[in-house]
Amino acid sequence: MPVLRNIGDLASCRAEGGQAEIHAISNAALAWRDGVVCWLGPEDTLPFQYTADESFDADGRLVVPGLVDCHTHLAFAGWRAGEFEQRILGRSYLEIAEAGGGILSTVRATRTASQEDLYKRSRLFLDEMLALGVTTVECKSGYGLSLEEELKQLAVYRKLAEAGPVRIVPTLLAAHVVPPEYREDRGGYVDLVVGEIIPQTAWAGLARCCDVFLEESAFSYDESRRVLEAGNAAGLLGKLHADQLTDGGGARLAAEVGAVSADHLECISDEGIQAVAEAGVVAVSLPIATLYLNQDPMPARRLIDAGAAVAVATDFNPGSAPSYHLPFAMTLACNLQRMTPAEVLKGATLYAARAVGLEDRIGSLEPGKAADFAVIDAPDVDHWLYHLQPNACVATFIGGEITSGSLPA
Ligand code: NIG
Ligand code: FE
Repeated sequence: MPVLRNIGDLASCRAEGGQAEIHAISNAALAWRDGVVCWLGPEDTLPFQYTADESFDADGRLVVPGLVDCHTHLAFAGWRAGEFEQRILGRSYLEIAEAGGGILSTVRATRTASQEDLYKRSRLFLDEMLALGVTTVECKSGYGLSLEEELKQLAVYRKLAEAGPVRIVPTLLAAHVVPPEYREDRGGYVDLVVGEIIPQTAWAGLARCCDVFLEESAFSYDESRRVLEAGNAAGLLGKLHADQLTDGGGARLAAEVGAVSADHLECISDEGIQAVAEAGVVAVSLPIATLYLNQDPMPARRLIDAGAAVAVATDFNPGSAPSYHLPFAMTLACNLQRMTPAEVLKGATLYAARAVGLEDRIGSLEPGKAADFAVIDAPDVDHWLYHLQPNACVATFIGGEITSGSLPA
C-alpha cells in the first residue's frame, strides 16, 4: 500500500478540540489503501506492514487535508469588471443590482450560454483549483432562475462530478434573486421554487443542498423559510446567504430550520451568533467577498468564542468574489477576521466538510477517511498562510491518487 514519507508537519485536522486544534504531527508518514487512509503518525513508528509498497517523499514539507471550498458559484457566463470599477468609484453592490446589473446580468449571460460552454469554463477553473490543493468544491446554481435553466447549471455539475477528479457538491440556489419575468409576482416565483424546482431537482438527484439568499434585494425571512422547509422536505441540506449586507435574521433562521451552514454573516447580530453556536450551524466566512464589497468582516472571533465552527471559502462568482484562490481567502481570513492560521486551516478543511454534510468522509486525515491531501512547500501552517505566493502546493492527491503536481518516489 502507498506511503507518503518525510513529512515535515502533518496537520491532520481531526475534530477533537476547538477550532485552533489541528493535531499536527512532526516528521510524519501517511499510509493509505484503496483510496482511504489507514495509518498516520511519526515516521519512526511506521508499522512494518506499511513499508514495502509504493512510496512518495514529501521532502520535509507540510501536508494538509485536501482543501474543501464549501461555497462557490462555479458555473457562470461572462464577467462583471465594469461593476468592479463602479464600486471603486463609490456605487454600492445594491445600487448596481437595482439598476439591473449584478446577479441579473450574470443570469442573462448564463441563460444564453450552452451547457457545453459552461462545462468547458468550469473545467478550467476546477483544474486550477486542484493545483492549489483543493479537492472538493461546493457548486451553486442560481444564475438560471427557471426550472429548465437551473437544471442546466446542475447538469454541468453532474458532468464535472462524473469526470472527476475533484469531488463536487451541487447546491440548488434557485432562490438567489427574483427573475425579471416574476418581478410583479414574487409569490409566484417562490411557489415555483417550492412546488416545482426543489422537488424536481431532488427527484433527479441533482443537488445535495438547498440555498437561499435572504436579503432586502433578494428574499424575505418568510420567503426564505418556505424555501428551506421545502428543501428539508425534499431531503436537501439547508444553507443560507445570510446577514451579508444587512441583518435580516438569517443566522437565526438557519438555526431554526436546522441548516448545515449560514454563510457571509458580516452583519450578524449578537442573537444570531448565539443561535448558530447553539444549533451547531457552521458559520461560513467569505473574506474575498468582504474585501471586494469593502465591508467590515464577519465577527469570526466572537463566533469562535461563542463556540461556533467558522469555515472559510472563496464564494467564487463574477460579482462579489471573482477569485477561486482558496489559499488567498485563507490568508485574508487571518488578516481581516483575526483568525490564526491553524483556525483558518481547520475552517477550510474539516469545518468546510461539515458545512456540506460530508465530515464523516473528507476534511481530515484519519484512518477510514478519504486519502485526499495536499503537499505544501512550507515548513508549517503559519509560514504557508503568512508568505502569500501564487501557489505553494506541489502535489494534490484525491482518493490516494496523485491528481496534480508531482513528488519524487
Ligand atoms: O455570495 N450574495 C449573493 N450571491 C453572491 C454574489 C453573486 C453575484 O454577485 O453574482 C455572493 O456574494
Ligand atoms: Fe455566494
